[in-house]
Amino acid sequence: MNPADFLSLISRRHCQRAFRDEAVSRDILEAVLLAAGEAPSGKNTQPWKVTVVSGAARDGLSAALCAAFDAGEKPQPDYEYSLQPDPAEWKERARACGYALFELKGIGRQDLEARKEHGRENFTFFGAPVQLIFHLSAGAERGNFLDVGMFMQNIMLGLMAHGLGSCPQFSVAGYAGVVRESLGLGADRWVVAGMSVGWPDGAASVNTFVPERLPLADFVDWRD
Ligand SMILES: Cc1cc2nc3c(=O)[nH]c(=O)nc-3n(C[C@H](O)[C@H](O)[C@H](O)COP(=O)(O)O)c2cc1C
Repeated sequence: MNPADFLSLISRRHCQRAFRDEAVSRDILEAVLLAAGEAPSGKNTQPWKVTVVSGAARDGLSAALCAAFDAGEKPQPDYEYSLQPDPAEWKERARACGYALFELKGIGRQDLEARKEHGRENFTFFGAPVQLIFHLSAGAERGNFLDVGMFMQNIMLGLMAHGLGSCPQFSVAGYAGVVRESLGLGADRWVVAGMSVGWPDGAASVNTFVPERLPLADFVDWRD
């Protein structure tokens, strides 16, 4: 593969939030996960674990998450995702991204019902047949999370090579207790994130969403 093709694959990866009702073969998932396991990790600790949830287990997990969401349960993730409060410029980017997605989906800013339904789609996994649950030893530290992130990105790119789409989901980790109970994970596991995986619905406009990126000069500082 030439460099431009490889970089193009990276740049073309964007979250997919609508999937076809079509299974993903275990062979493909195994091949992608095996390759993704070549991700770097501090001292080769490979701290990641992933539970691949499909079929009845997927439906059970989705039902449990939807029940928690519908009951208005307050999300209680195992770890704080970001700075509290977020720096103003991060907050602004998040807001811009959210509003642009609502606009594409035709959801008015004041339409709280539609916004809620949009949030709930996280827990039906946007119709994806597979949900990956990433978990770490309880009490894991920042470096371990960094390692899991590398593993996750490898997975998303590997899936793309097969024409599959994905969406990483902290929202799922918000109901860490529900995830643990539904999958029989012990209290010794921290839920890092979920990830919906499936065949993208090419007719869904939501799958064309590409949030704006910063110009190079805004995030690269050169020193010669
Ligand atoms: C760790 C992580 C958690 C995320 N959680 C969610 C989520 O719960 N729901 C969702 O729709 N998108 C989620 N996203 C997707 C981001 O919103 C998305 O990556 C970002 O807006 C950039 O868009 P793109 O990936 O399509 O280029 C998450 C992304 C990451 C990396």
